[in-house]
Amino acid sequence: MKLHHNPASPFVRIVRITARELGIEDQVEEIHTGVFLPVEAHAAVVADNPLGRIPALITDHGYVLYDSRVIVEYLVHSAGNLDLLPHEPVARFAILTLQALAQGIADSAVSLRYETALRPENLRWPDWSDRQTARIDNALDTLENDRADELSALNIGTISVAAVLGYLDFRWPDWGWREGRPKLQSFYEDFAARPSMKSTMPE
Ligand code: BEZ
Repeated sequence: MKLHHNPASPFVRIVRITARELGIEDQVEEIHTGVFLPVEAHAAVVADNPLGRIPALITDHGYVLYDSRVIVEYLVHSAGNLDLLPHEPVARFAILTLQALAQGIADSAVSLRYETALRPENLRWPDWSDRQTARIDNALDTLENDRADELSALNIGTISVAAVLGYLDFRWPDWGWREGRPKLQSFYEDFAARPSMKSTMPE
């Protein structure tokens, strides 16, 4: 398998952590995009993914898979280890919803990053940034207040939550997301110590 990746992307990190937790990282050749900008088509990525987005995985059979949700499901399937995403429906849909919540935070966080760091200053839209920030804080509150019980397991939901919290630390070290969220803080402290997290840390 080959993976178009850039370690800064939280979506890519979800895939990289999953491969490591499944013990199949040696089967995934990681192709670094180099500089990856939202306003420029990256030729090598577009050649495989018409959306020009990462991550994109090329399987050993030559199929191209995207986005990160499809890729992690494929990795779980191909490793033959359903612990990270069981078939049993109650567990499965709770995990998928946790994953969707984390991916929604990642969507807003990457969008906020582009708006505040890359968009020319005279074109920035503060209301847009405020809305993304509120969305993220609201979702973090939901994780703390309503879903903390789900954070003790290792699955693709908790992997996604850890990856996006790592992204917040990476891009906004002063965000202060831990304040008033002791359960989320404790979850992240434990999870961040895992080898899969340490070896995928963006620089
Ligand atoms: C980032 O640098 O924050 C980033 C890079 C690629 C995809 C998403 C985010």
